[in-house]
Amino acid sequence: MILMVVGGGGREHALIKKLSENPQVEKIYALPGNAGIGADIGKAECVAIKATDLNAICHFAQARHIDFAVVAPDDPLALGLVDRLAVLGIMSFGPTGRAAMIESSKAWAKALMQKYQIPTAAYAVFSDAAAALAYVRRQSYPLVLKADGLALGKGVFIAADQAEAEQAVDQLMNQGKFGPAGAKIVIEEYLTGPEVSVLAFTDGKIVKPLVSAMDHKQAYDGGRGPNTGGMGAVAPNPYYTPEIASLCMERIFQPTIAAMAAEGRPFRGCLYFGLMLTAAGPKVIEYNCRFGDPETQAVLPLLETDLLAVMEACSRGRLQDLEVRFKEGACCCLVLASDGYPAAYQSGFPIRRGDLGDAAVYWAGVAGDGRGGLITAGGRVLGVSVVRETLAQAVADAYAFSENIDFANKYYRHDIGGQALAALDAAAKNISEKNNGLSDLY
Ligand code: AMP
Ligand code: GLY
Repeated sequence: MILMVVGGGGREHALIKKLSENPQVEKIYALPGNAGIGADIGKAECVAIKATDLNAICHFAQARHIDFAVVAPDDPLALGLVDRLAVLGIMSFGPTGRAAMIESSKAWAKALMQKYQIPTAAYAVFSDAAAALAYVRRQSYPLVLKADGLALGKGVFIAADQAEAEQAVDQLMNQGKFGPAGAKIVIEEYLTGPEVSVLAFTDGKIVKPLVSAMDHKQAYDGGRGPNTGGMGAVAPNPYYTPEIASLCMERIFQPTIAAMAAEGRPFRGCLYFGLMLTAAGPKVIEYNCRFGDPETQAVLPLLETDLLAVMEACSRGRLQDLEVRFKEGACCCLVLASDGYPAAYQSGFPIRRGDLGDAAVYWAGVAGDGRGGLITAGGRVLGVSVVRETLAQAVADAYAFSENIDFANKYYRHDIGGQALAALDAAAKNISEKNNGLSDLY
């Protein structure tokens, strides 16, 4: 089979690596991929077509007789690439443009949750700055303000007081800091509790979640600093107990899939549930219409079932027939970034690699140096993923192997997995003291 994967980051590298394990797969074109993917995976070939250039992608897919396509990033999904490929008779993994609305408009997603009673933060939507300003003056704090549209995960403001909320309204709506994405905004209640990312395969009818994960979105240790695309992830997430998992399935996952189908927008592909485990139960913080990055790099190494088989089952509406299995153990993905990210940073520096043992290196912001080596070419340069029996060992080894990768301006957080390990410790203590489970944690 000839496959095509649209996208070019660490998430796509992890997807391509998993897909390449299927012996029926002869070739995987990555559009645009990156130099690290091409060098790492013999079956992969990178093609310099941008993920948002739908015409060029469709032309390429037809010319190369692509058997199955995987569309990973949100932009081409929202633009309707899956629909365009379907017209050409090419089957893809990913939602239609109409179903991708669950991520591309936060206001639409909130209305969906309200209509179908899916638990989420209380909210209001504004298209007028004066009305938004009048509203924030009547609220209690903290308060959360979000751009309606796609903003690379950066369009969310947690305002500590009214002055900060007014500033956020001004940046989003008057200054247009996020362009048209901020013309409409969602203002919502501030929730507290541990966060969990659950990526779930769905065929539009049923849901099969992957192992849960914990992302680390802020740039600095201790969860401080600006929001990034994600500085590292661990899986499974210890807060996500079997009891919480079945609650989420019953109250959130299955109702969301049923709601999308009832709205005439059946969702097929990977639906990402960003959850907060509040004292009043799990609530949806956000939906993404795609695999998360870097969650994918922490979760896919634990998948045992053939990824292509799962993806085809989702696209054909046959997920019921397939058992999706995972390995025991845990995975830690540590992101190595360029110092300065998510703001300005320098790149173009050679990357040196020592012994990386059995770690998987997922390349993201890299380019070829023209002599077979790699240089830095982005904010998030790569992720180092390690699978071990215990999370503690996975975290320790991800950090140890990362010492053997070097480039100028290398930056990483020192506490990836720290909160999860503390939760495991607390639970173990709890069990020995009260013979009780992790559900006591929050
Ligand atoms: P999002 O891009 O919607 O996932 O938001 C980014 C981050 O902002 C989330 O991972 C949360 O940490 C935080 N956040 C978003 N919405 C809320 C909320 N209603 N209450 C508290 N924190 C939130
Ligand atoms: N890691 C969060 C996301 O992919 O949106």
